[in-house]
Amino acid sequence: MGVNVNLNNRQPSGGQSLSIVWIIAGVLGIIFGGLLIGALTPALLPVQGSAESQQVDALFRFMLVIGGAIFLLVIGVLIYAVAAFRAKPGDRADGPPIHGNTTLELVWTIIPAIIVVILTIYSYQVWISIRTIQPLNHDVEVVGQRFAWTFNYDITPETLPADISAAQLDETVLASLNSDEGLQFSHPQLHTWVGEQVELKMRTEDVNHAFWIPDMRIKQDLLSGRETSITFTPIKAGVYRIVCAELCGAGHGNMAGTSAEIDGEVDLRGAWLVVHEDEQTYLREFYEPEAQKALFPPEDPVERGRQLLASGSYPCGTCHILTDLNWNGNIGPNLNNIGTRAASRVGGQTAEQYLQNSIRNPGAYLVPGFGNLMTQFNDESGEPNYMPEEDLSAIIAYLLTQTQ
Ligand code: CUA
Repeated sequence: MGVNVNLNNRQPSGGQSLSIVWIIAGVLGIIFGGLLIGALTPALLPVQGSAESQQVDALFRFMLVIGGAIFLLVIGVLIYAVAAFRAKPGDRADGPPIHGNTTLELVWTIIPAIIVVILTIYSYQVWISIRTIQPLNHDVEVVGQRFAWTFNYDITPETLPADISAAQLDETVLASLNSDEGLQFSHPQLHTWVGEQVELKMRTEDVNHAFWIPDMRIKQDLLSGRETSITFTPIKAGVYRIVCAELCGAGHGNMAGTSAEIDGEVDLRGAWLVVHEDEQTYLREFYEPEAQKALFPPEDPVERGRQLLASGSYPCGTCHILTDLNWNGNIGPNLNNIGTRAASRVGGQTAEQYLQNSIRNPGAYLVPGFGNLMTQFNDESGEPNYMPEEDLSAIIAYLLTQTQ
């Protein structure tokens, strides 16, 4: 016995045309409701900062319209069934037995199958479109490390700032500028400009991380031992949050940038995406001043050490406090006044030796109250967490000046 028989039995005579009107009204209500859900919900989404975000949101809205309509259909049928088929007072009998309905089963299999095929084709097109790399682009290397992001920018003979000629450069700087590996500078923030496709080439120095910029709708895992990449084209100038979306340890939350207001100016700390109005502004306000620092490194080791730490080349700022560099991390020991305290931390070690050990072998001595969480920076070139000897001595020279 099919379900239709039971339904028809309940209908009063002459109700056939009335129920068709109701069904049409219900279908229209469900379609309209789905469109309304699709239209309203994106107001909850973050800013659309990239060309990709428009495509991703359009796909999301399309799925919301379908999902919203199905939601309304299911809830509508449920409410109708509760109201129309409830037991009459005093009716203690079982409901009629129902053994399937081939038409109904075909309908609820074929319609979802069609929807899934359409969604597959549509999302595959969006995926292909947002993963395609245009031939000319701006690429930046992204390094994920517990617990900071570092962005490395290439300097090539072609991208030398206009007012700098190769003749002005120091021999070692010139040699690395002309080498295959090239010259790079590091910065804690990702800078680019409106309308230019950026390719991010990503690697991790330790565990897996996930690079996420919600406003650009891009998210990409960084996998140990493997390079990954992602591209996006910003369409709106501004400053955007960068987040780590893979639980990577005690400082996972610190991989997102923070900001503070200093004398009325907003000071960005840690990872942020800065999208400049155009290429000229990017070059003038970011690239050229930063390239200048790398092309003319300070001779004074203290200055060099400070520059290295401020550039985010090493991920120290998210874990330690150091007022001179606006660091406010709380995972590792406070580094204010470390120049004074280093000498008396471990018996028999000078301040230099103590700092050297703390960087090359941080687990050997732990400041009371802190766990063994720090990255061990080794002296093997090409290995992860490589810190060359000259960087180490410059950083130590700088830390020793921190006596406040
Ligand atoms: Cu890196 Cu979480």
